[in-house]
Amino acid sequence: MPTFVKIQLPSNGETIAVHDGELQVPARPIIPFIAGDGIGRDIMPPTRQVLDAAIEKAYQGRRAIEWLEVYAGAKAQELYGEVLPEDTFKAIRRFTVALKGPLKTPIGSGFRSLNVALRQTLDLYACIRPVRYLPGVPSPLKHPERVNFVIVRENTEDVYAGIEWERGTPEAQKLISLLNNEFGTHIRSDSGIGIKPISETGSKRLVRKAIQYALDHGRRRVTLMHKGNIMKYTEGAFRKWGYDLAAEEFSDRVISEDTLWDQYDGKLPDGKILLNDRIADITFQHVLLRPTEFEVIATPNLNGDYLSDACAAQVGGLGVAPGANIGDSMGLFEPTHGTAPSHAGKNEVNPMALILSGVMMLDYLGWGEAGELIQQALAKTIGQKRVTYDLARQMEGATKLSTSEFGEAVSENL
Ligand code: NAI
Repeated sequence: MPTFVKIQLPSNGETIAVHDGELQVPARPIIPFIAGDGIGRDIMPPTRQVLDAAIEKAYQGRRAIEWLEVYAGAKAQELYGEVLPEDTFKAIRRFTVALKGPLKTPIGSGFRSLNVALRQTLDLYACIRPVRYLPGVPSPLKHPERVNFVIVRENTEDVYAGIEWERGTPEAQKLISLLNNEFGTHIRSDSGIGIKPISETGSKRLVRKAIQYALDHGRRRVTLMHKGNIMKYTEGAFRKWGYDLAAEEFSDRVISEDTLWDQYDGKLPDGKILLNDRIADITFQHVLLRPTEFEVIATPNLNGDYLSDACAAQVGGLGVAPGANIGDSMGLFEPTHGTAPSHAGKNEVNPMALILSGVMMLDYLGWGEAGELIQQALAKTIGQKRVTYDLARQMEGATKLSTSEFGEAVSENL
């Protein structure tokens, strides 16, 4: 067991073991959590309350989570004098699965983003964001019930992963002269420079996760979303490597669109998954107009970032959009939204995105029964029109609840 500087281990929890990439979850796993900054402090307590109550209800004391608070962001700064202490990385590595609230990146901390740093350091390369409509949640769509897909976004590469140099720095100037003098480009000398690496390794492991997710969750279609018509050797290569990976590792389960039409007259045969690809711009239109055509969307980092928030809006907004960052076996579960500083400490925001991230975590632990109870209780609470302000203002006849009251209402409805 690693030694920790400030973290107190619970006395009777157990450690999740990993054998051949498979989790072996004990009856009382220790699960680290980072409450987070801003509204993280409002949404973490009701979320833990709902998860604990659902586990108790589903397993009658045979299973329970031993929560372990670990620190990042402002609270870590207070306790350790740094925003991302080594204790936190050690604890997540050791205990494999963790729950996280949003984190603000303090200016001048030396990190571009604490979230990106956590995902990259722990190599949590797949960001999984389900986009699913819960009946009763206000939506701008005519048929939000048709939206039910999962975005699997690459988390560690691409222009978004932060290899950038500011205009005028020696690094930017050196790169510009190298590119202009040796590669014949015409980059203006007053440019900032960002690098967009997309590797075969990174693309293949991401597409493998997406296909495996589809197989594990009964999804029948995986779409590679890319901008390969323009960025041929990064986004276009992502597409090619995705198809290559499917042919190398899943040829008995996955068929392409050509095969679907040439051999099966457009009807997907039982036991098979369709792998197709769509260009990023048209995907944004199709997720709005033909959402039933998507089940799992695998995509590089930046595309996935834009798509996640746009799709969250289709089913009720950031307050209800959960997510998970998954590596080979480690999982860090967190909502899509940030710290919403203007709402922090007011006990008013929606904890649903974090609760639903917790549901994903339960599913990952193999405790799906408890997750299912929470989904039903959420549906019931929304059906009763007992919701937080973000949904209440869009629903006629709603009772506006605080963050903690919403947690209690969901627990009652379990
Ligand atoms: P944000 O997601 O924090 O908030 C944008 C707006 O969305 C809020 O003003 C609020 O109206 C609404 N909103 C967000 N969460 C909500 C909830 N649970 N219930 C109801 N309404 C909610 O995005 P913003 O303002 O761009 O970022 C604020 C900070 O959060 C920044 O420091 C940013 O770096 C950080 N951030 C952290 C993330 C993470 O930890 N994974 C993700 C995104 C942003």
